[in-house]
Amino acid sequence: MTTPNSIQPLPPARSDFADDFLWGCATSSYQIEGAGAVDGRVESIWDRFAATPGKVRDGSNGAVACDHYHRWPQDFDIARDMGLNAYRFSIAWPRIFSGSGGAPNQKGLDFYSRLVDGMLERGLQPWATLYHWDLPQALQERGGWAERATVEAYLAFVDAVTRRLGDRVKHWITHNEPWCTAMIGNYEGLHAPGLTDFATALQVCHHVLLSHGKAVPLIRANVPDAQVGIALSLHPVRPASDSAADRAATLRHDGLRYRWFLDPLHGRGYPQATLEAVGACAPRVEPGDMEAIAVATDFLGVNYYFPETIQDAPGEGPLHARVLPPSGVETTALGWEVAPAGLAELLVRIEHDYRPGPMYITENGACYDDEVGPDGQVHDAGRTAYLQRHLAALRDAIRGGVPVKGYFAWSLVDNFEWAEGYLRRFGLIHVDYDTQQRRLKDSGKWYRAFLRQQ
Ligand code: NOJ
Repeated sequence: MTTPNSIQPLPPARSDFADDFLWGCATSSYQIEGAGAVDGRVESIWDRFAATPGKVRDGSNGAVACDHYHRWPQDFDIARDMGLNAYRFSIAWPRIFSGSGGAPNQKGLDFYSRLVDGMLERGLQPWATLYHWDLPQALQERGGWAERATVEAYLAFVDAVTRRLGDRVKHWITHNEPWCTAMIGNYEGLHAPGLTDFATALQVCHHVLLSHGKAVPLIRANVPDAQVGIALSLHPVRPASDSAADRAATLRHDGLRYRWFLDPLHGRGYPQATLEAVGACAPRVEPGDMEAIAVATDFLGVNYYFPETIQDAPGEGPLHARVLPPSGVETTALGWEVAPAGLAELLVRIEHDYRPGPMYITENGACYDDEVGPDGQVHDAGRTAYLQRHLAALRDAIRGGVPVKGYFAWSLVDNFEWAEGYLRRFGLIHVDYDTQQRRLKDSGKWYRAFLRQQ
């Protein structure tokens, strides 16, 4: 780790933000729930992937995780005591449908109904994500998201969930980070289902976006006063050098990483230059698909972690562009650049390019090698500073005119960090995986103190 990349801003104060600003934390089902074989839950692609040797760094899986399925009252008590007024969670599809047909599993729906009541009792506004990567394995056996039929299966799942919870859950996120679903899972092979085919990844991406577009009217039909959006993982991009080659590579990369999602969601179709660049790997698109994807939404969810630096790389990957590892800048324990100014830069750019309406930071957070000290506490100074500096950048972006209405820190609790297993901690609450003991870290205490300010 080296020097910070910007001058320290003034610390943020809660009063810098609107009175009705949402302050939350985010999680996802497979990463925290555990209870892998409880109450009728079936196998997901992540159970299968994690059971494949070499796929998860510590050989672990989500079978137990934080045992949130049973310990949620305690987790929500801590969230309430921190002063949060919102909580973002996801619904495990394999708890609701087997993926092989049949009726929804009432026990799965009952669990989420109890969970939502638990949030409301503690003043936490529920923000439900409908897909955070845990597809029923049975659907993957039939081609998963690469098959158009999975869009229909998703809509049946969305229908069942929104009918059951829509009286109490008003905020719905159709998908979490479609780029990761498509590219990390189906091209890079580093996430479930572990495929490495670019054309498949682009077809997956199209079906995920289509399922978003078709889910929005369905959610609105089932949920009075619904607020619906999608959460994208986005990065500011910069060329590795001023050379024409690096600048062109940056544009190519950005075409797939940013425009490929935001353009069709805003009625502009897939970007032409990127369509030409991907050539025969372009997805099959049926008449009406692009209109469906362009459905109006109520907000845009932005997950921000770090900027990307792009270098021209002839012959490498489909776009001949390489994301460079950070060098000479401050990084987290995962090697991700710490760049609070990047958050403001990204938000200003989105607002300029698309004017998407209200935005929410649906994830932002940092991984550090936290340890419980001799005093029984977790002094995660790095994460505390990360949180402060990103909130300061967010405040500045809002003052600059970007309509951000809420912030969800990733994550409420340490959890299963996908291919990194339990080796990587992002929580504001520390979890001892041997005892399941929870400890509020210094970062969580700072957030609590910040939220208690008048
Ligand atoms: C993005 C994902 O939505 C979440 O599941 C993951 O744990 C965090 N970023 C950190 O990598």
